[in-house]
Amino acid sequence: MPDAARAGTALRSAAEVEKRAAARAAAELVAPGMTVGLGTGSTVAHLLPALAARRLEISCVATSLQTARLATELGLRVAPFGGARELDIAIDGADQVAPGFWAVKGGGGAHTREKIVAAAAARFVVIVDSSKLVPVLGPPVPLELVAFGVAGTLARLAPAALRDAPPSPDHGVIADYLGEIGDPAELARRLSETPGLVEHGLFAPDMVSCVVVGRGEDAECLERAPGASRA
Ligand code: 5RP
Repeated sequence: MPDAARAGTALRSAAEVEKRAAARAAAELVAPGMTVGLGTGSTVAHLLPALAARRLEISCVATSLQTARLATELGLRVAPFGGARELDIAIDGADQVAPGFWAVKGGGGAHTREKIVAAAAARFVVIVDSSKLVPVLGPPVPLELVAFGVAGTLARLAPAALRDAPPSPDHGVIADYLGEIGDPAELARRLSETPGLVEHGLFAPDMVSCVVVGRGEDAECLERAPGASRA
């Protein structure tokens, strides 16, 4: 195998080790009887077996069909998210996390359901490998758009482009905002105010309770700064 390819494989597997470490640590935050929101992605794919191995009496809500399928195969009880208004905890990955806990999510196009689930949870735990901690957030920012009038919506969101991805389970079109982020609060406001936007992938710090980051085979739990409203 050429050196560059070998280095790439080693990097990928180092990230996998960290994802697994973060996921396993987060699984320990779940207690019997809890209602649990399950995110989407490769880090969550490490969470599900770790959670299933604990054999707790819990009820889960899944943010994607993939997660629902895998969780069910592993023996976790997955219920539709219709009746319950609140969840005890939600655990999910992220594409980027900045020092002030602004996060970008939606690399898998599931950010609308992920944000609904995070907002419903008393505690929202983000699990990442250390490469996801960035000094400053950068593009892309995932978007979900209404299909009706999508060309005009994209033009108002410029620079933005459709992603080559299937529609969301709620029939939204997946796209990405490609411009500089600058002040994430300001950009989040601008995106939210655009007609035709279903949801964007910027998650504000007040959604996030803690970030569990893999460091080699260990995990470190970064709690949000005091004064914040989340548990
Ligand atoms: C899916 C997400 C994922 O949580 C995010 O893309 C991180 O994915 P991964 O754990 O595979 O790196 O937001 O919509």
